[in-house]
Amino acid sequence: MKQQKRITFNSKFGLVMASVGSAVGLGNIWRFPCEAGEHGGGAFLIVYVFCVMILGLSVMLAEFFLGRASQKDAVGTFKVLAPGTMWKITGYNGVLAAFLIFGFYSVVSGWTLEYIYQSATGNLNVSSVEEFTGNFEKFTADAFRPVVWIFIFTLITHIVVMSGVKKGIERTSKLMMPLLFVILIILCVRSLMLPNAIEGVKFFFKPDFSKITSDVVLSALGQAFFSVSVGMACMITYASYFNKSINMPNTAISVVTLDTLVAILAGVVIFPAVTSFNISPSQGPALVFITLPNIFQQMPFGNLWSLIFFVLLAIAALTSIISLHEVVTAYLHEQYKLSRNKATAIVSLCGFAVGVVCSLSFGVLSHFKIFGIIIFDLLDFVTANLMLPLGGMFICIFVGWFINKKVLKDELTNNGTIKFRLFCIFVVVIRYVAPIIIALICIKKLGLF
Ligand code: TRP
Repeated sequence: MKQQKRITFNSKFGLVMASVGSAVGLGNIWRFPCEAGEHGGGAFLIVYVFCVMILGLSVMLAEFFLGRASQKDAVGTFKVLAPGTMWKITGYNGVLAAFLIFGFYSVVSGWTLEYIYQSATGNLNVSSVEEFTGNFEKFTADAFRPVVWIFIFTLITHIVVMSGVKKGIERTSKLMMPLLFVILIILCVRSLMLPNAIEGVKFFFKPDFSKITSDVVLSALGQAFFSVSVGMACMITYASYFNKSINMPNTAISVVTLDTLVAILAGVVIFPAVTSFNISPSQGPALVFITLPNIFQQMPFGNLWSLIFFVLLAIAALTSIISLHEVVTAYLHEQYKLSRNKATAIVSLCGFAVGVVCSLSFGVLSHFKIFGIIIFDLLDFVTANLMLPLGGMFICIFVGWFINKKVLKDELTNNGTIKFRLFCIFVVVIRYVAPIIIALICIKKLGLF
């Protein structure tokens, strides 16, 4: 492969933190507990862990291979490794998915800032769940306030990405991720000390196998891909900044394990709190923004706990949205030879515009529905349930069938200097297991059988 001078992450720690930062996000703390709560707790957890550890991990490693072998952005990767073919469409799918996810992700990220503000100023102090729900709905439907928060969040993201891979992305992740773990552990301890916490722990960990349906499996797969940031070339882009001595199989295992750990810890924070206050765990997206603050208010120092929790959520969101931004920025910068500053500015502006439209879909645009759902939900559905699984499937097929096995092995073992004992299993998964499972699930989802 042609070797060019490319920026790389400074240290192994920094690179793992940046990748974990991308993986750990609203997906773990906001989306995962909702999905688990709606799909039967423990049963969902088991299917999810299987999907992450087998499929998520393999797709991530395949993406690491592509990025480091080509040293290019999402689209450039396919242009270098399969010149003159249609494979670059997989790259375009990734860039588009990143851009669309950026849009709805910035909306929820903005909400976290509002809730930080509300907790800090003591305004979350209301007496009933109805009032909480009312306030949340009023806020999200507002045409102005959420947009201001999206603007601020996008601006912060913009500054980080513009500062570059080392000074922006790596430095921010190295600072934020350890902080995130500390906060998460404090909250876990607090939650487990609540009366009746054990019921929540039971709900979360005790599987009821009768609950495993095809719907549960699809949701678990979509959630797994979303959570470890695979299927849309995000990890391709990050891996293009890895240096050649990094042990990629181990890095992928660390990232996936830490990501799963955060999701599980988030469940340990949320479910005991929910059962302790006698609330149903299957609340959907409202769980984190309505139920939790309501629970916090019933504890001593409620505002402080809310504040800590929403800071956690904002940190998780920031390091993830940076990675979404970087995918598109790297693409514009490398494919159109724009300066990094210009590319960053274009992505921030366009991403902000999509964010605003998504936000308005809760208010003035709420009557505008496509396939019966508002724009925000549409983007969430299309990206997580279609673009990521399909992107992941094509990435597996490409790496499994079109890349020379020796080239693949050499890259993954750093030319034989490190061991990768599970190489054969990895090849079987990306050649057969992952594409077949993903195809079956997508066909089922589209209602074709
Ligand atoms: N993984 C992040 C989360 O859990 C979201 C995310 C960031 C993502 N980059 C991605 C999802 C790339 C899919 C692909 O919140």
